[in-house]
Amino acid sequence: MNPLPYIKNVRLKRDQVASFNTYPFSIPAIKELYDLEFSDTVTIFVGENGSGKSTLLEAIAVALGFNAEGGTKNFNFGTRHTHSDLYRFLRLSKSYKKYRDGFFLRAESFYNVATNIDELDEESGGPPIIDSYGGISLHKQSHGESFLALMIERFGGQGLYILDEPEAALSPSRQLAVLSRMSQLIKQQSQFVIATHSPILMAYPGALIYQIDQSGIYPVRYEDTEHYQITRAFLNNPESMLKNLTR
Ligand SMILES: Nc1ncnc2c1ncn2[C@@H]1O[C@H](COP(=O)(O)OP(=O)(O)OP(=O)(O)O)[C@@H](O)[C@H]1O
Ligand SMILES: [Mg+2]
Repeated sequence: MNPLPYIKNVRLKRDQVASFNTYPFSIPAIKELYDLEFSDTVTIFVGENGSGKSTLLEAIAVALGFNAEGGTKNFNFGTRHTHSDLYRFLRLSKSYKKYRDGFFLRAESFYNVATNIDELDEESGGPPIIDSYGGISLHKQSHGESFLALMIERFGGQGLYILDEPEAALSPSRQLAVLSRMSQLIKQQSQFVIATHSPILMAYPGALIYQIDQSGIYPVRYEDTEHYQITRAFLNNPESMLKNLTR
């Protein structure tokens, strides 16, 4: 029996929701959430800004025991407490096998993760945590360099990696490097759950892509995503698109 995916399915305990008129239950992604299956390799959420990708990813991560602002399960810092209580309404169906490694990456609060690593290393007398991230303070690297150090140095396989817009700091060629690293980690029994706007990352072969919009969450083919279609149309003929946009 295949031990992966580590998270197989997420279900909203709809009977416990008092009202679908208040946040976060009012956003269509959650209002229309019943039962969501995960791929044993890569599951991707795409959707317009504000469609609910981060709300959903954060709730899944917190329900699994990750810190709401990101990091491994050992991180418990919090610079603000704005995460929704959606996690209490999710029923996660998990594999019989436990993942050995795990990380919740949020582009928007990665800075706080980097600070927390530095602080923990200043306080503790033990082996520096930063060593497992490549040895250089993430604050002493560029945003993109620190992201890549995380994926290459820190992610170790047999892992569950939940990534919210990992492309945020990365050049296109570094995004290709991420695809390559993902493939190595997947060969070492890892599972990824990613929210992204990157047409490069969502091209991961065989990824299960979910579109989130006003009507809810549903699987979509890569070529049918708006990201793919708009980027392709633009690159095929930038002049004509720009003429329309700037006239
Ligand atoms: N604490 C909150 N209280 C009320 N509404 C919120 C709160 N946090 C987020 N929202 C709303 O919930 C919706 C979903 O936000 P979310 O951050 O999940 O979107 P997203 O799909 O991740 O967008 P983006 O692509 O811009 O990152 C948005 O309309 C947002 O305004
Ligand atoms: Mg988001």
